[in-house]
Amino acid sequence: MSHNHLSLFPAVRMGLRIGLLAIILAVLAGPAGAHAASVDAGRQVFAQCAACHSVDGRNGVGPSLKGVLGRRAGTVPGFRYSRALKTSGKTWDADTLSAYVANPQAVVPGNHMPFSGLPDAGERADLLAYLATLK
Ligand code: HEC
Repeated sequence: MSHNHLSLFPAVRMGLRIGLLAIILAVLAGPAGAHAASVDAGRQVFAQCAACHSVDGRNGVGPSLKGVLGRRAGTVPGFRYSRALKTSGKTWDADTLSAYVANPQAVVPGNHMPFSGLPDAGERADLLAYLATLK
């Protein structure tokens, strides 16, 4: 009886040590890993867009960005798009949207968005995480 109990003890200790190691590795991997996109940070970045873009379906200076991910470019009803955007053939996914926001004129030449671009990839990743919440 007591013999069995004693022989289990090292195994339990070993298990604890492995568990502790896993926790330490997980903590270390967090900040060292790739930029984790943050919806809250993205909401702050969106302040640069909010003067022209609503998130509730209403069009302003720019078309509403409600549901923008997965949408074909230039298709929000009631918004007068430039010919460039309407005929761009793009669908807004994480890649096309990030590229457009980084440099609108390079990605859709001749489009009418009066925004020079968001060069910071981390800010764009945050912004994308936020835009993905606008269903
Ligand atoms: C000063 C106004 C203004 C600002 C600031 C602005 N936009 Fe725009 N945006 C527009 C206009 C106007 C269009 C339509 C352009 C066209 O028709 O060529 C547009 C178009 C777009 C489109 C295409 C939408 C569609 O339905 O195809 C996206 C996506 C977009 N903007 C995202 C953004 C994001 C993200 C930001 C902030 C980083 C931003 N815009 C900042 C005015 C603005």
